[in-house]
Order: sequence, then structure tokens, then C-alpha cells
Amino acid sequence: MAKRDKPCPTVDSWDSKTLPISHHRKELVQAVKANPFLVVTGETGSGKTTQLPQYIHKAGFWKDGMIGVTQPRRVAAITVAHRVSQEMGCSLGREVGYQVRFDDCSSQDTAIKYMTDGCLLREILADPSLTKYSVVILDEAHERSLNTDILLGLLKRRVLQPRGGSSGRSTPLKVVVMSATLETDKLSAFLGDCPVFTIPGRTFPVVERFCGLIGPKDTDSTVYVKEAVKVTLDLHTSEPAGDILVFLTGQSEIEKACDMLYEKAEAIDYRYDVQDHSVDGLLILPLYGSMPTEQQRQIFQPPPKGVRKCVVATNIAATSLTIDGIRYIVDSGFVKQLNHNSRVGLDILEVVPISKSEAQQRAGRAGRTSAGKCFRIYSKEFWEKCMPEYTVPEIQRTSLTAVILTLKCLGVHDVIRFPYLDRPEERFILAALKQLYQCDAIDRRGHVTKLGQLMVEFPLPPGLTRALLKAASLGCEDLLLPVAAMLSVENIFIRPGQQEKQQDAERKHRQLIAEAGSCNDFTVLLSIFEKCRASDTPSAWCRDHWIHWRALKSAFSVETQLREILLRLKQQRDFPVEKFDGSRSELFRRCLCAGYFANVARRSVGRTFCTMDGHGSVVHIHPSSALFDQEAQLDWIIFHDVLVTSRVYVRTVCPIRYEWVKDLLPKLHEVDVYELSSVAREEVTDEEVAKWEAKEAAKRQAEGSVEDAL
Ligand code: CDP
Ligand code: MG
Repeated sequence: MAKRDKPCPTVDSWDSKTLPISHHRKELVQAVKANPFLVVTGETGSGKTTQLPQYIHKAGFWKDGMIGVTQPRRVAAITVAHRVSQEMGCSLGREVGYQVRFDDCSSQDTAIKYMTDGCLLREILADPSLTKYSVVILDEAHERSLNTDILLGLLKRRVLQPRGGSSGRSTPLKVVVMSATLETDKLSAFLGDCPVFTIPGRTFPVVERFCGLIGPKDTDSTVYVKEAVKVTLDLHTSEPAGDILVFLTGQSEIEKACDMLYEKAEAIDYRYDVQDHSVDGLLILPLYGSMPTEQQRQIFQPPPKGVRKCVVATNIAATSLTIDGIRYIVDSGFVKQLNHNSRVGLDILEVVPISKSEAQQRAGRAGRTSAGKCFRIYSKEFWEKCMPEYTVPEIQRTSLTAVILTLKCLGVHDVIRFPYLDRPEERFILAALKQLYQCDAIDRRGHVTKLGQLMVEFPLPPGLTRALLKAASLGCEDLLLPVAAMLSVENIFIRPGQQEKQQDAERKHRQLIAEAGSCNDFTVLLSIFEKCRASDTPSAWCRDHWIHWRALKSAFSVETQLREILLRLKQQRDFPVEKFDGSRSELFRRCLCAGYFANVARRSVGRTFCTMDGHGSVVHIHPSSALFDQEAQLDWIIFHDVLVTSRVYVRTVCPIRYEWVKDLLPKLHEVDVYELSSVAREEVTDEEVAKWEAKEAAKRQAEGSVEDAL
């Protein structure tokens, strides 16, 4: 099928032949052939992700369609695709490709495609039988990401109860679920008691030590970063040769830790300070999600002779990526996790203690090729009091809005009795339905509206999509497309560590805010996007203004892709068209209101605001906002997201007028939970809807208008 295009040098193939999985090649291919579902498990690093797709490919499955391999993390999808394309001696994007949100590196020739689970979910929307695929491999199932869990339920329904020959497939789809050695019985039982293939692997003992530097009260990142750096340097000077893997939680923290390590490592005198004299240097490498691919690949290279490699990583190195040669682990005990915060009613990325099972997984990374050591910087008390036994699956702790809309668009009406591997709490499903109803994506009967069908096409959060579609219907999408793109990439503002540079950056950023014309964070994003795009030398412009050029470059590409989706949808006959007479600034802000009216807050005492969604949370404007320090002049605002530290902060803020949301706000309180719960379960009759409407009219009359209530 595929032609080989300018082969890259093949990576050491001896290496892949000695992986534990290589002894089971024939049985594995046989098992995939014989079963519609197969669970494959084995220690991390045994070769599941990189080898199994190649075995299946070589066995000829690709003749019936692509082999799709999903990953919960985009970095994993990209790096593994790189690796496998090298092993197969082809250039990336041809026989072996990848696809992640806003970045498709696959072609007609692609036979093995690594992709994020979110991308496969979107493909199912367009092609419910996945006719392009012969085998779908759901990798890293133990991570229990929201999208992988949903894919498991969808594929279970599809494969176990195919709808009488109408699927458009000539051969049945094969589904392989791969997982580290956790919960495999549960997975097999869920998938109709399918066989479990265990790859036997050898691991070496890992000595675990609690350093006791972090107690139950230490959750401030400056504390654990400092301690992790200290432990790392101590072990570098006192332990025999072998590479180090340090677990921290996120980009800025990792960069800070690398700077500190670098500075301190400079001062080491290798003649006297280091006990193992074969060690004469420390190579410090960061590893996190939004890092450029080129830099990521360096992580896998062996260090020069005598040099100890030290990788400072997020949780990505726990199971998704295996780095050879690691003998020492430094575990901070923390991870960044998206959690639904019931206090503010929103999903919030927060730093939390890892679970005990996660800590064991981290420690295990030291014992892959020889005996190792794991240094836990926290105390035994922290382990016992602060760390849960297992990590709660994402489906049970985050907002389900986008996923529920996807399910509804796939014709799953009863979203409560959908086959979930672990059922989310009903209140989370109801909250998602409520949000979808509020932004007109579903109607009162729980059916997807025309608008909902348009919304599901965008890989964006529902509020932002709603605002974008409002703008498109008013013919002013040029205002919202760049904003949506800028909010989809990493933070664009560089905040340098050094004080002098920091002052310069702050000055330049303030200047950009002033030049944007109106004091509104969304306009600032739009203005930066336009200024940079208009510049002849955009990368130099970014450097001058302390803006991340890499982020801006992605934003340009994302904007183009969103524009393409929108263009396609606008060609549909009944794309909504509306009219508006007013200033550009008002038009812009009104579109934002259409999407973000659930995130409305009103000035309260002092510099605080109070949200209007029924939670009535007290929030502050984040210091990074253009509106910080101007609270006294504000009355009503909307915001894009929330950050919780000691206070609840709102970020990316825009001042609005009450009249613009007046008619939208009642919608936040319109549907009651009882009604949603019955809509979620069953089809609702016309009479019932009429009854609710009457009840509600009476309720509204009794309560008076929202305005009075305020
Ligand atoms: O999926 P599993 O954890 O079972 O193993 P894998 O990711 O397929 O890794 C098998 C081997 O390939 C390990 O020794 C990795 O170090 C190596 N590998 C690599 O060198 N570079 C990559 N980008 C990915 C894997
Ligand atoms: Mg793997």
C-alpha cells in the first residue's frame, strides 16, 4: 500500500527485538485475529505501545483499514509516532502518522496512526462505524481519561451489538485495550469477558525511602520544588552512576526546578564532592506536554559517557513514555489534575497529592533495567493522611458537557444508562445537560438542536463555541476566531524569572494592553494576534514584546483550522443569520455574552465580585488581567476561567452591561434537576413539556423578574 518515502535511518532494531513483548509476537497476532476484544497488559516499557501496532501491521491487517492507536496525551501520541516511524524506516506522516487536536500529520498512505483519544471520538462522530480502521487500540486505559472511558463504552456497544449489517464495514472491527498492570479483570468483564493477554516482564527491586521533607500541610509549590531540587542534588553527589527522573507537576515549576538545579550543579567540584568518581557531570532536561517535539526527543538519547542524565518531568513519564537508563526516582508526591470544583461550579486545574497506586507506578520506573531507588520527598504521615489509595477516574471528577453533547449527537439518548466503566455521579450528568440546555445545544426534551449540531463540530469548550457561532451568525467571526485560537494555545505571555527582565516584560505587556484600546482581556488577545500577524518579522516582534512566538504560531494555525470548520458549516443552507446595529466593541462583547453568560459576576463589596449562576461565589480579578486594579470602575463582568489558590480568581475578563445578559440570565435558573433527570432517562411527551412550561410560568410570576431579585 504505502511507498517508502526517503527512509530515515532505522533506529537500533536490536533494541526492539529484546523487549519483553517480542517473545509473544505470534500469540498476540493470533489473539487479535481470534477475538473482537482483547485486553493486553504488561509492565510499562515492555513494548506494548511501540511494538504491538507494528506486529499487527506486518500481519496484514492494514489491508482492511488503518490501525489506530489512541493515547490520552498529545505528547505521547507525537513522540511515539516519531519513534515508530524511525523503527519502520519511513518518514513521519506517511506509513506511520499522528493526529492530535489542531495538528494532523497523517496522509493517504498512513497505515498506523497514533492519535489522542479525543481525536478518535471526533472521528466516530463523522463515521460511527470507523470504517477506515481495521483495528483500534485504546492505549493507556489504566489512565482512565474521560475520552478513553467514553470510547470504551461506545466501542463495547458497537462491537458487541452490531446493528444488522448496516455498519458499512466488510470485516468486523477489532478492538485492543492496553493497560499497565491495573484493573485488567474489570476491563475484561466490562468487554464481555474478553481474554486478557499478559506480557510477562521482569522488574528489579526498588528501594523506597521517605525523606520526610514535606508534611500534610505543605502544599505550596515553592516548598516542594525546593525540596525536590535538594534531594536530587544530594543523590547526584552521593549515589553511584545511573540516571534520575524527577516528578513535578507543570511547565513553569519544571522550568524553575531546572534553573535551580543548573545553578547549583555548576558549583559542584567533581574531584571532591561526588562519591562515584565515574560521574563527572549532570545533564538537566525538562519534559512536559507543550514542549517542542525536537527538544522532547533529546530525552531518549543516552547521555555522554560519565554524565548523569536528570529528567525533570510531569506525570507523563509515569506510564506514557519510558526513558531507558533511569535508576533513581525523586517523587514530589504531587500532580496537576482537572477537578470539578463544586464551590465555584467549574472545572479547575489544581495541584493535588497523587494516589498511593500512582506513587508505586512512579517508583517502578527506577526498576526497569536494574535495581533502583525511589526518594519520596514527603513523610510517611503525608502518605497515610493525604494520599488516596487510587486515582479517581476523570469521568467522575470533571465536567461532562462536551462528552454528553457528543453522545447525544451519536444518538445515545439515555446518557444515564450508557455503559460506563465507572458511572459518573448523576449530578455531574445533570449539570452537563443543564449547561447544554442553557446554551441552546439541546432542547427541553434532551434532543440536540440545530445549534448543538453545529457546536459539536468545534474542538472547543461549549461557551467559547457558542460565542463563536453567535459572532458567525452576525457576520463578525473575524473578532472571535483569533480569540478562540489564542485561548486554545499555551499562555502567550512570557514572565521571565530575572527581576530586571521581569520589569521590562511587565512594561511591554502593559503597553500592549494600552494599545489594544479597550480595557478587556479578550480584546487584548485579539489585538496581539492581529499585531503579530501584521508584522513583517513576527518572531522578532514577539521577542521584543515578551510574547511566546511558539504559542502565537500555533494560534495562527488553530485560527485557520477553526475558520475552515466554520466555512464548511456556513455553507449549510440553514446556518443562522442575525442582524445587529451597534459599535464594534459592543458587538464583540455581546457575542461573548452569548457564550459566557453562565460566567457572569457582579461587583460586590470592595474589590470582589459575586457570580450569578446560583453558586453566588465570591471571586477576585486575577492580577494578570488588564482589569486588575480597576475594580472600582466596574459593575458587571464575564470571565473565561477560574484559578483557585488561597482565593478564587477569574481570568480573561470583560466588562459588560447588565442589559446584555438580562434576558439570558433567567435561563440559568429555568430548568430544575428533577425535570432534567427524567429527560435524561426517557423520551418525554408533549403533554409533559406543556406541564413544565405552565409550572414555570407560574413560578416566574410568583417570584417576579430576576431584576427584582437582584
Ligand atoms: O507501551 P510500553 O510501556 O509497554 O512500552 P513502549 O512505550 O512501547 O516502550 C518500549 C521501549 O521503547 C522502551 O525501552 C522505550 O524506552 C523505547 N522508546 C524510545 O526509546 N523512544 C520513544 N519515543 C518511545 C519508546
Ligand atoms: Mg505504552
